[in-house]
Amino acid sequence: MSVLDLGCGTESVGIAVSRQLGGDVNIHGLDLSSTQLDYAATKGSKSGTSLNLYRGSMDLLPFDDRSFDLVVTSVAFCETTSEVRIGAIKEVSRVLKDQSCFGIVDCAKPIMGLDTVMMLPFFMFKETPESWNNHYPDICRENNLILENEIYIKSYVKCQLFRKAD
Ligand SMILES: C[S@@+](CC[C@H](N)C(=O)[O-])C[C@H]1O[C@@H](n2cnc3c(N)ncnc32)[C@H](O)[C@@H]1O
Repeated sequence: MSVLDLGCGTESVGIAVSRQLGGDVNIHGLDLSSTQLDYAATKGSKSGTSLNLYRGSMDLLPFDDRSFDLVVTSVAFCETTSEVRIGAIKEVSRVLKDQSCFGIVDCAKPIMGLDTVMMLPFFMFKETPESWNNHYPDICRENNLILENEIYIKSYVKCQLFRKAD
């Protein structure tokens, strides 16, 4: 099984996915920061997880069409511009196999009043209209990725699962 983690940072997610899925999984992590990728490589070897790491931007992926069974991105969209986020979703649709899944974990409009007040400056500063206004399902649908499930895993962090239609 081939898994791609966009904005992988130190690859906590890739290592966790590898443990969860067991042996026969090929983890690929892509990040803009070579420092993060260096940490990921160290963490991978310490944990005995084989990682394929790439430096680049998530809106221009160095992979063939339909090469992944699962693509995930965790708290990385909120660190990019709208243009990059939209470009990344288009690229995800290209590199995912048909019927395979794309998981987005990202900051979202808080469901608790107090957190809304606390998080408002972050969202205004970061310019994240897609997550604040929950536009990911629309952008994904335009790219053949259909929302299957969504859940808040924190008051201001949402996890959404999309499946690529044929
Ligand atoms: C908050 S960290 C999250 C790291 C990891 N996904 C996690 O959940 O621990 C966000 C990461 O996104 C990366 N990033 C930001 N913009 C990016 C882009 N355009 N393409 C790829 N990675 C990017 C940053 O370098 C950083 O490592």
